[in-house]
Amino acid sequence: MPETAGGAQPDRRSGEHRTDPFPAAVQRPRPRRGEELEVTIDSLAHGGAGVGRAEGFVVFVRGAVPGDRVRARVGKAKRSFAEASLVELLEPSAERIEPRSPHPGAPWQVLPYERQLQEKEHQVRDALSRFGRFADPPVEPITPALEPFRYRNNVEYSFGSSDDGELTLGFHRAGRWDLIDDLNEDILASERVDAVREAVRQWCREQGLTPYDRETHEGYLRNLVVREGRRTGQLQARLVTSKGPLPADELAAAVPADSVLWSQTEGVAETTREGKTRTLKGSTSLEEQLHLAGERLRFRISPDAFFQTNTEMAERLYTTAAELAGLAGRERVFDLYCGIGTIALALSLNAREVIGVEMVERAVADAIENAKLNGIDNARFYAGDIRTAMRPLLEEEGRADVVVIDPPRAGLSQKVVRRVLEAEARRIVYVSCNPTTLAPNARQLVDAGYELRTVRPVDMFPQTPHIESVALFERVDGAAPG
Ligand SMILES: C[S@@+](CC[C@H](N)C(=O)[O-])C[C@H]1O[C@@H](n2cnc3c(N)ncnc32)[C@H](O)[C@@H]1O
Repeated sequence: MPETAGGAQPDRRSGEHRTDPFPAAVQRPRPRRGEELEVTIDSLAHGGAGVGRAEGFVVFVRGAVPGDRVRARVGKAKRSFAEASLVELLEPSAERIEPRSPHPGAPWQVLPYERQLQEKEHQVRDALSRFGRFADPPVEPITPALEPFRYRNNVEYSFGSSDDGELTLGFHRAGRWDLIDDLNEDILASERVDAVREAVRQWCREQGLTPYDRETHEGYLRNLVVREGRRTGQLQARLVTSKGPLPADELAAAVPADSVLWSQTEGVAETTREGKTRTLKGSTSLEEQLHLAGERLRFRISPDAFFQTNTEMAERLYTTAAELAGLAGRERVFDLYCGIGTIALALSLNAREVIGVEMVERAVADAIENAKLNGIDNARFYAGDIRTAMRPLLEEEGRADVVVIDPPRAGLSQKVVRRVLEAEARRIVYVSCNPTTLAPNARQLVDAGYELRTVRPVDMFPQTPHIESVALFERVDGAAPG
């Protein structure tokens, strides 16, 4: 399989290629913004775009796959590469398959699932060797997803309007922050979620409500967030609007969900996590279960708390993390970036004690509640920012035998890695949703006295380029890390 374009570096935050210069090569001059180029795609970049060359000049084309010959319009153009959007598929790749239904969040549905898995495994290996300088990274075969479609338990839709002024509810058109296309079928969420979205759109149209305008900041309807307990069957809908009145009881009655929430915000940021939330029907938290270590663990999830979006594969992911943690029942474990306590509670079944740290206070409250809900008394949780909480944690609790880390896509800063090293754990289990940030963190841990034993990719997000993996680091005998 061809490598990603030579020298392309991923952005540590987004996981996409970043603006580092490419090695000097004979190539055409930098294209202008808006210029159209013919590009033959030969590989996939970290982040999912197709990569090819136009007269030697490297071009990243979102939506294109290896083997395609495309006409693409240049957006950002740097000295050594450009980003472009696909205008016309001149010759489709022999690998392409018919997409199931248009969905900007599922760009890889044009590739057979086996091919997606192969690419993800390759990208984990590639990231570790290129950005972590591991000559032969110990990457195991990827664990495929149980359901390649309709697996998401959490979706956020946006309101907008069509060309003829009708209210739309769906996703941003690829590369457009101002246009929202209607969605008839969400192939990544369940049919029940489709029914909720249809009912909300219909009701909002009947009420004559206007969408929020992302340019003028006028208008009312912003987002619809739907969450589903895949093991409990609970369904929750949350409407996010600007300030203003709403016939709340009518909305609650019109939506086929167990709970209906309404958040109002005055902010201008594209986020569903601001503002005040009222519960119009049912309970504020969603309940979900995970089947782990022969137990059914129950979880209450606050509306703005993180929960892995693929419940069935979260069970596989946490089982892998538990296996790699190799607990015998005597250990003290730190679960850093613990969210609502899923990993901590799963590991508490085989550890002396588990201490979780998480920045979002409501998630920590959920974690404490979830420990009680499951009768677990050897797990404790702190609210804090890992960047500043590690030293006080070590002073308060002492060192840990095992540290589990599950950071957001940006991974850990070098300073946070140094703080983690101060825990002097025998094992570090790193759950990563971005191999390009796992790789430099892995290099720093290894340079400080750990060995990278294994990396197990787990496919949580079929039809998308997102990659989850679990890495195990073990302290090399006799070495004092740090
Ligand atoms: C990828 S999620 C993992 C959550 C949890 N381990 C799970 O599997 O559900 C990352 C979590 O880190 C939290 N977080 C992000 N930055 C943080 C920071 N600087 N300090 C502490 N927690 C942070 C987020 O709120 C989120 O809950």
